Amino acid sequence: MIMSFFERLRSLINKGTLNSSGYKASSFLNKNAIDFLNPFINDLQIFHPAMSSMLESNEGVRKWEYGMMLYCLPSFQDKSVLDIGSGPSFLPLFLAKTQGARVTVLELPQPYTIEFEQISLRFRQENITLKAGDMRDMPFEDDLFDYVISISVIEHLSHSLDHTSFASDEIFIHETKQTLKEMYRVLRPGGWIYLTSDAYIPGRVKQDLWAGKLLNGNPYGAYSIEELTNIFIKTLQEIGANFPFPIKFEKSLLLSSSKYASYRNRYMTVFNLFAQKPIHAQ
Ligand SMILES: C[S@@+](CC[C@H](N)C(=O)[O-])C[C@H]1O[C@@H](n2cnc3c(N)ncnc32)[C@H](O)[C@@H]1O
Repeated sequence: MIMSFFERLRSLINKGTLNSSGYKASSFLNKNAIDFLNPFINDLQIFHPAMSSMLESNEGVRKWEYGMMLYCLPSFQDKSVLDIGSGPSFLPLFLAKTQGARVTVLELPQPYTIEFEQISLRFRQENITLKAGDMRDMPFEDDLFDYVISISVIEHLSHSLDHTSFASDEIFIHETKQTLKEMYRVLRPGGWIYLTSDAYIPGRVKQDLWAGKLLNGNPYGAYSIEELTNIFIKTLQEIGANFPFPIKFEKSLLLSSSKYASYRNRYMTVFNLFAQKPIHAQ
């Protein structure tokens, strides 16, 4: 079989022939990693003009989010992939057309970002299955997907469709846990979850450049840094998930350098999380 440039690069990195510089981790956005991830991102950048502007927006956060996924996960060839909340993204098309993945997208019947019909038109010819539904209660049977992806979606459980009303912390956390359990439920044994979202240091964020306002002194649509361990890791661990990569969610990282901070605020960041369902999961 002839390997693409992309696959050759991945295999060199996986064999350790290329130095992976310790980036293979569940951690915070790291702007210094973007150069390293460039070979993976380049394929995406040239894939679609809208994709390239999306990758440039918000200080290139998506470059890191997508780049880390493409670099860290094993090949997408023939894998069944669920992308939750793809909104206006061309990532599902990229995975289906260039990576050989069998892609399903789950979106709200009234997405926040784009008309449902527009997403449907975009995916129709490409054999991508689009399902209307909610990540809190997914319309899929158990053990279905090799990869369950959710990029900058789960934090939206905190607010209503029009952003005028907000869930209490209790409901937000409860629904976050429920969603994590759903992601794990629909994952095949041996499959991977890849998710990204926003986190902050409590008490340090004076304004939020995305939402423009704070809620009880903290940004909404984000998790405190402690919650990454107490909610995300703990919930997935309790239901049996493994974390094959090191987990680096130390507050000191974000305090030490602005390379970890996101466009929302100096004391806010984007984080990613890789988790795996064990092969022999019940
Ligand atoms: C920031 S946007 C999409 C980001 C996209 N994943 C990307 O890679 O650019 C968030 C998307 O999540 C969708 N969404 C929000 N809440 C959801 C829910 N409960 N279930 C499924 N999708 C949801 C919204 O409709 C919106 O299109």
